Amino acid sequence: MSTVLITGGHSGIGLAAAQALAGKKIDLVLAGRSPDRMGQVAGELRAEYGVGVTSLALDLSSLASVRAAAVRLRDMLGSGEVASLDAIACNAGGRFDGEVSPSSDGYERTFATNCLGHFLLVQLALPYLSEHGRVVYTSSSTHDPDSTDGRLVGAVVEPDAVALAGNGKGGLQALSAGKRYSTSKLCTVMYAYELDRRLRTAGSSISSIAFDPGSVPETGFLRGMPKPVRWISASAAMKWVMKRIGAVTSDAEFSGASLAALLTSPDYADVSGKYFQANDGKLSAVRSAQLSYDERRAAKLWDDTKHLVGLAADEEPILLR
Ligand SMILES: NC(=O)c1ccc[n+]([C@@H]2O[C@H](COP(=O)([O-])OP(=O)(O)OC[C@H]3O[C@@H](n4cnc5c(N)ncnc54)[C@H](OP(=O)(O)O)[C@@H]3O)[C@@H](O)[C@H]2O)c1
Repeated sequence: MSTVLITGGHSGIGLAAAQALAGKKIDLVLAGRSPDRMGQVAGELRAEYGVGVTSLALDLSSLASVRAAAVRLRDMLGSGEVASLDAIACNAGGRFDGEVSPSSDGYERTFATNCLGHFLLVQLALPYLSEHGRVVYTSSSTHDPDSTDGRLVGAVVEPDAVALAGNGKGGLQALSAGKRYSTSKLCTVMYAYELDRRLRTAGSSISSIAFDPGSVPETGFLRGMPKPVRWISASAAMKWVMKRIGAVTSDAEFSGASLAALLTSPDYADVSGKYFQANDGKLSAVRSAQLSYDERRAAKLWDDTKHLVGLAADEEPILLR
């Protein structure tokens, strides 16, 4: 029996992935900050599929919460409450509209949630991951400024962790919510590739994969937008228009099943370091943005991120140093 930890597995694409995994008799750890909703979904999955489902309290925007979740995960594995850890889905996150708001650690919230929280979680959980385990990072086609989605949302800026964490502070002009989001998703692809390079150098059997679920407006993703915008975005007419102008389009069921396949299917056992996209009912490996392949920038992003999350030298998994 395998176990997959999925952040945000109680809603949207994460929930669809959790259902697809449970349907394959895979146990789950649902990690998130909404205990009632996670408990409800865990009960439903147990009843419908007969799998083991455990909830793990995790607020990705708080480094203290990520650390507490990693300790709890270690204890659950140690006690046998969770049998093994075979894959991690860094799925939770989103765009946070409105003014720049700082996380409890004082970092810009989009970058803190989408990037710093998952970076620290993966670093702390990696030692518990099984051989041939997988880490799948959910990005977005908005990370590519040359794509339709990237142009619509707002072109990325330099993937500089220190500047992004401090965005809006010290009288500096704040980035738009769209740019904060697209740049966080560029960083996400770069973390996935950098992790892959470090794993390969260390001779590890673990895979690191980047994933674009495509535009799925019917999830909670647009929750910060006015109701009419959410309604129009999820309409069949708008989906048709988006497809026509070259946006990457999908639905929660297909994107969730795609994420589940990347996490566990033998078909994706040997695809570490690649970027997969769910588009119009097809899951395929595609090229990500030109900038995402810049190894010098990725190494700097990694090192700066380590400092921002306060990772001690002895906490960094030996294989990634
Ligand atoms: N939908 C799209 O069009 C689209 C397109 C490209 C990429 N994506 C990406 O796909 C992923 C899933 O999004 P979705 O569309 O399924 O949206 P969603 O329904 O809003 O799900 C997002 C999940 O992230 C969780 N989350 C947000 N902030 C968190 C925090 N601080 N700590 C822990 N969990 C947190 C939410 O938990 P709560 O319920 O507690 O808020 C929720 O479970 C995201 O990474 C998103 O950026 C989505």
